[in-house]
Amino acid sequence: MRVVFLGPPGAGKGTQAARIAGLRGVPHLSTGEMLRRAVRERTPVGLQAKGHMDRGALVPDDVVDRLVAERLAQSDAGRGFLLDGYPRNPAQARALEQVLARRQGALDRVVYVHVDDDTLVERIAGRRGCPKCGTVFHLAARPPRKAGLCDDCGTALVQRADDAETVVRDRLKVYHDNTAALVRYYEERGLLGRVDGNLPIDEVTHAVEAVLGSAA
Ligand code: AP5
Repeated sequence: MRVVFLGPPGAGKGTQAARIAGLRGVPHLSTGEMLRRAVRERTPVGLQAKGHMDRGALVPDDVVDRLVAERLAQSDAGRGFLLDGYPRNPAQARALEQVLARRQGALDRVVYVHVDDDTLVERIAGRRGCPKCGTVFHLAARPPRKAGLCDDCGTALVQRADDAETVVRDRLKVYHDNTAALVRYYEERGLLGRVDGNLPIDEVTHAVEAVLGSAA
């Protein structure tokens, strides 16, 4: 199963990719998570990425393409993967095709999770995440059992630095200017499956499963 999750910031790509990864036993590869870890650990990639991420801009393609190619070379990705947040523009999509042509084979499916802009802003405002294990919560839609603490590891939850309202608006603009073009790109290749991400989390998961049915 070689799948890309596509959609605007806050659409629920990460939430759904994490669930499907658990159900199907393939790794969930989030470029946002990889980059945030690199920033926390102050690696050369993290130092390069931080300024771009802080202002909601895309990290340069060559940095992200290399990061993904290295991750896809690891053995667990040999049995499939769910890419979340990559590719982000047609140039990254072509870079991914080249890597896959040398390794796993072509993509099976692209899941496009679409959500209204007003809902996106509300979702991002209510998002809290675990800095240790990466589990994502929402104050209303998916609250932790104990306020402020991760259900899985008990760590204090935090708000992402790029979830500040001004940065969110810039991220939405970047999405519309760059990433939205990928919807047509993958539609033309017959890979796109649309999912209504405005629905409750469980219903979205059912819709994603329906789109993936033939890609298993
Ligand atoms: P990244 O981490 O990929 O951020 P994003 O694409 O903006 O997506 P989000 O993580 O904000 O949202 P999501 O769709 O995963 O939603 P979630 O499931 O959390 O990227 C961050 C930055 O890294 C970028 O700005 C860029 O700088 C850089 N970067 C990353 N990839 C890059 C690339 N390829 N190239 C260049 N730069 C790159 O859900 C959101 C909230 O809503 C949560 O609280 C969740 O609990 C809740 N929720 C989810 N589903 C539902 C539902 N159905 N109903 C109610 N609430 C829900």
